[in-house]
Amino acid sequence: MGCTLFITFEGIEGCGKTTQVRRLADNIKGMEITVVLTLEPGGTRVGQDIRRMLLDSRNSNLTPLAELLLYEADRAQHVEEVIKPALEEGKWVLCDRFFDSTMVYQGYARGQDMTLIGDLNEKCCSGILPDLTFVVDCPVQIGIKRALKRNEVHMEEGQDRFEREKRDFHEAVRKGYLKMAMEAPKRIVVVDGTLNKDELEKVIFNYVRPFLAGGVEA
Ligand code: TYD
Repeated sequence: MGCTLFITFEGIEGCGKTTQVRRLADNIKGMEITVVLTLEPGGTRVGQDIRRMLLDSRNSNLTPLAELLLYEADRAQHVEEVIKPALEEGKWVLCDRFFDSTMVYQGYARGQDMTLIGDLNEKCCSGILPDLTFVVDCPVQIGIKRALKRNEVHMEEGQDRFEREKRDFHEAVRKGYLKMAMEAPKRIVVVDGTLNKDELEKVIFNYVRPFLAGGVEA
């Protein structure tokens, strides 16, 4: 039996979680632990196709239920193809967004049935739960500003309808994450996304450090 850990990163757009998940992966790799760095949506080949569908602005007429089912389909494939096998091999898995994103975006922010989302999450995760989740929290205005800056460089035409969502939506997402964190304080840690990148990297690493000695039994 190997020692293993499943860590997820969550937050509003532009909160800085993607930078931090990469930095944590680099820090852990230096410690003789095999790390799988992955993301949702899009952690598998099938998932990349689903991701394209979800983020394409031409698909803004997706019904809420169709959207929810696409995120869950991506997750079902990702858990079976990537996350579960890696954990079984004793690797650490770091994932940029996971099931909390669905609870918050489709549930709290878009008002879909939370019980349905909970049931779908349970089914699609087939028993896999994060050991630790970082919510990188920052004010919506800061997140949007960062996300727009990033998109000036990377945005392809027709892509990324999410970052054009209304401000209220992002506020609801942020609130949703903070509520989830209050409800699951043992698993979810809220960290300050307004810190500079190096400081935040240290804060996050300090939370993970105790696990480096033992990890969690696979
Ligand atoms: P992405 O470009 O990965 O955004 P970010 O860099 O902020 O993670 O786009 C993912 C988008 O998908 C993001 O707007 C959040 C959304 N999303 C959901 O609405 N539900 C989900 O279950 C997941 C995993 C993501």
